[in-house]
Order: sequence, then structure tokens, then C-alpha cells
Amino acid sequence: MTGIDHNTGTEEIRDRVAAQLTRARERSRALTDAVDDHDLVRQHSKLMSPLVWDLAHIGNQEELWLVRDVGGREPVRQDIDELYDAFKHARSARPELPLLGPAEARGYVGEVREKVFDVLETSPLEGRRLLDGGFAFGMIVQHEQQHDETMLATHQLRVGPPVLHAPPPPPGGPTGPAEVLVPGGPFTMGTSTEAWALDNERPAHQEHTAPFFIDTTPVTNGAYANFIADGGYADARWWSAAGWAHVREAGLVAPRFWERDGDRWARTAFGVTAPIDPEQPVVHVSYYEAEAYAKWAGKRLPTEVEWEKAARFDPVSGRSRRYPWGDEDPTEAHANLNQRHLSPAPVGAYPAGASPLGVHQLIGDVWEWTSSDFHGYHGFEVFPYAEYSQVFFGPEYKVLRGGSFGSDQAAVRATFRNWDYPIRRQIFAGFRCARDASPGESA
Ligand code: AVJ
Ligand code: FE
Repeated sequence: MTGIDHNTGTEEIRDRVAAQLTRARERSRALTDAVDDHDLVRQHSKLMSPLVWDLAHIGNQEELWLVRDVGGREPVRQDIDELYDAFKHARSARPELPLLGPAEARGYVGEVREKVFDVLETSPLEGRRLLDGGFAFGMIVQHEQQHDETMLATHQLRVGPPVLHAPPPPPGGPTGPAEVLVPGGPFTMGTSTEAWALDNERPAHQEHTAPFFIDTTPVTNGAYANFIADGGYADARWWSAAGWAHVREAGLVAPRFWERDGDRWARTAFGVTAPIDPEQPVVHVSYYEAEAYAKWAGKRLPTEVEWEKAARFDPVSGRSRRYPWGDEDPTEAHANLNQRHLSPAPVGAYPAGASPLGVHQLIGDVWEWTSSDFHGYHGFEVFPYAEYSQVFFGPEYKVLRGGSFGSDQAAVRATFRNWDYPIRRQIFAGFRCARDASPGESA
């Protein structure tokens, strides 16, 4: 993230905001310049918006919050607010809307951004909670990066030759024992001090866990293929009632984007078909598939509380860290983030990113399904708008943690919470397993 706290000076915050805005825009541009106008306006999947919608929506959110609200300036394009309000039109209906075309959308986001740089120069960054630590700017940086991950998922659904290119991830390595014991007891969950943390991560509060084991690494393609080979998709014993109903009805037999290649599995990623790497974390599985695998393996998914404790708790000091490796912002040695690579990295690729207890790859690679529904923490307050998180609180969404190779470090922290429906597979989601520690094991 940014490491901004109450000691960070205003000029320093302005510089960091400017750099993060520019970085986000470079990515949005790369993702939209990679395809032609026809591909920008078409719908690659009913689950996704046309890429050109995401682009103008990024600009519209930026206009609403930074040009109009923070800056108090005149609207750039008030007439389009309704088109880019995510609550007004379902994704599947967006291609039929009178959207800005590619050239118009590019012009619009550029015009908004110019005004935002002017607002950034002149706004005080204090006096209103929205401005503290540059929060409003940080929220908009994260919003753009979140949509950049969504656009990457659209690219993954797009059919055709590859248009995105990136170096392969680093090689895997040793990861020690398969599971790690996390001691029982209290720990601090959430944050009240991270300047750009979103409302659903707040406030910091104490949680308590029993001792539990958590997998050292996310579940790999190789392990997941064993579940398939063992008839996992055809055996109701491993599935919840809702999961079984879904897997039958949808006819699922493997993760999304997998296909049979003789006696092996191949997967297609960003237009390239290749045999699965058995050492890479499995990706594009639903919550229901994760839950079924865990049961087959004699385990369960971690709760959200357990996941965050495994990711943050330092058993020596008893305090919670910003990241598994410490309080420093991620570097390329810590985690597979920032769309630096276009796949998860094999397990053991990030020893420098491991937690004090030796849990690897909690941040980056794949979003990890937890068994928890999405709710506000005790003391939750809407800030600054209910449509970011609060309207999604409830049992229909499951929480995912840790970010993926498609997430940006500005939009991922060990406190960051994502959520989605348990049937969703187009996101870059995998999982790791956990289990209760018996009294004998936890001594
Ligand atoms: C936090 C990823 C679930 O994409 O639906 C983007 C982020 N909110 N625009 C989403 C978001 C408003 C959100 N997730
Ligand atoms: Fe949005």
C-alpha cells in the first residue's frame, strides 16, 4: 500500500497520490489499448461489462468524488452519471446502453484526470475526514485498480489469440511442512490506522481463535487434479447441499478454463493453452468447489478470522502486522501482485513473503475463499458511501482474502476484504485449507 500515517507530510502524500494515480492509469491504458475498438465495445461474457464501460466508469467515479466533491468544481459530463452507475444497469445490459465510444471514453477519462491533478495541487488534505491522509484519492486509486483486475478477468474470458504479455512467474521452492499450527488466543483484526483502508476493514478490534492448522500454501493444480481423478465432482459426500445442487445443474467437472488433453489437463489463460502446472495454485474455482475439495481432503476452509490471524499475527510480539512479512510495502520479492505475471506462481516462489509462522503466498497469486459470510465488523461505520460495502453485507456473499496476481498492491492489504457469490469462477480465486487442532496437537 502506501504506508501513509498521521506523520506523513502533505507534500509527501500529494507525491504518492500522483504516482499511484499515474500507475493505475498506465494499467487501465494497457488493458484497453491491447484490443481494437470492436473488442472494447463488445461483451465477452454476460458476467462482465464491455471494457469501454469499465474505462468510462473509472473516470465517472473519479469525477464524482474528486472533481465535484473534493474539488467543488463544475461537472465534466453530468449527463452520463446514470449510464455509469453500477446499480442502475446489470452488467449483462450494459452493451445496449448509449455508452461513450472508445475515443470519447479515452477523452473523458483524460479530461477528468487533468482536473484531478489540479484539485490534488490545491486541496488541503485535512479538515474533512474524506481528505485525511489523502483518503478520497486513495479510494479512487483503489477503485481504478479494482476495475483493472475486473478488466483482466474480462481479458481472460475473451476468446482469441493472446494480446497481453508478461514474463513467467518465478520458480517454486521449498515450503516446509504442509500445515502450520496457529496458536489459540486473541489477536487484533482489522485496522483503524491504515490511511487508505476502506470502511469494511475498520475498526481494529480483538478477535479470538481456538488453535488451528492452516495449509502452508494455497491448494495446487496437482492436488486439485487428484480430487477430480478421485471422482470428487461426482460424489455428493464432499459437497454442501447448495454446492451439490449447483455443480449438478451447471454440469461442472473441473475448474473454469480447464479442458481434458488426453490423460492430462490443460488450461487456457489469456489466449494460451498449456498443460496445467501442478505446482501452481489452482485458480478459477467457486466457493462450492473449494468447500468440496477441503472436505475430501479431510479439512475445511479457514474462517475469515483465521485467515487474517494466519496472515498478520506475530507470535513473538503478539501484534498484528500490515503484511505477513512485516510492515513494509510489498516488493516483487514478497508477492505475485500488480499483473506483473499473468498467472499464479508455483508454491514456494516467495519465501521472503512468508508469515512468521511460515505460511506462504497469503498475499497475491490467488484470492482465497474463506468460509465466512460478508458482514460489517463490530463498530462498522459507512464511509464514505453505503454502496461500497454495506449494501452487500449478508449471507449471500462469501469473503475472499489476500488478492491475486491480477490485484495491485494499492488495493491489497492483509486487512483487505473482497466478496463474491459462492458460484463465481471468473475471478482469480483459489483457496487453502484449514482444520481444527485437537487438544493433543495444540500443546
Ligand atoms: C470489492 C471487487 C467486490 O468490483 O464489485 C468496484 C469493487 N466497487 N466498484 C467490485 C468495486 C465499486 C468490488 N469488489
Ligand atoms: Fe466501480
